[in-house]
Amino acid sequence: MAWTNEQQAAIDSRKQTLLLSAAAGSGKTAVLVERMIRRLLDKTYPIDITELLVVTFTNAAAAEMRDRVGQALMKALSETKDPRIERQLALLPSAHISTLHSFCQYVIRKYFYTIDLDPTFSIAGQEELNLLRRQVLSDVFLSYYEDEDRAAILYPLADMFGSDRGDDVLMDTVSRMYTYARSLAWPEHWLKASALAYETGPDTSIDDLPWVQPVKDFVQRVLKKDISFYERALYHLGQRDAFSAAYDQFSAEQEAL
Ligand SMILES: Nc1ncnc2c1ncn2[C@@H]1O[C@H](COP(=O)(O)OP(=O)(O)O)[C@@H](O)[C@H]1O
Ligand SMILES: [Mg+2]
Repeated sequence: MAWTNEQQAAIDSRKQTLLLSAAAGSGKTAVLVERMIRRLLDKTYPIDITELLVVTFTNAAAAEMRDRVGQALMKALSETKDPRIERQLALLPSAHISTLHSFCQYVIRKYFYTIDLDPTFSIAGQEELNLLRRQVLSDVFLSYYEDEDRAAILYPLADMFGSDRGDDVLMDTVSRMYTYARSLAWPEHWLKASALAYETGPDTSIDDLPWVQPVKDFVQRVLKKDISFYERALYHLGQRDAFSAAYDQFSAEQEAL
């Protein structure tokens, strides 16, 4: 296989961070595998495959990567019969080629005693996590209701953002904020900045507040839609003189909107 110039440059590049971006099927994995193989079989500074950390997004991608490294090693072995290659093949099953989560799990299990964790821990599934999060939210809310000072904060919140049937809606809002914040690099910073958007000084006018324009846009969209309903009602009312009183009434309402 003849590498393209870009691929060759990516394969040969050393002593710097590389970010490769190319379309699916254009040969990124092939380049990565080739880079690994060259490192393993380097004449001057060979390394063992267990010294590499290769992380992927999915288990399927990790399996593919392991498979392709294995194939590349087999191919090299058939060409050179180098005992080093046989050793790499033997080490392949214990190589760190996995999803990032699996690697983290490996590190935690290996060094559990340094963080005082039961090494028989397991990774929770999505359902279990949802239940746990619900439980934690309930506990936090309860801790607020039970404390007089904190209850003074939560009651108005629950009034404004909850529903008459309980705090479920408010809990969902908190939960969504948590999920969104966690997707950002600095979650706490975002939460604090979001709270600042509601801070008002003595001369703050409503239009100074960053969240007002989206609310206005929303209200405007709703009103425009309502106005168009009046349009149709007025058309039908205009067909009969008997409806003229209603017509005037609707017409005035549309004008007001
Ligand atoms: N320069 C090349 N010439 C011919 N085939 C190539 C070349 N580079 C990659 N391929 C082949 O193209 C296919 C897709 O490559 P792959 O590395 O899986 O792409 P990607 O990881 O970018 O989706 C593989 O079968 C690979 O062997
Ligand atoms: Mg790929």
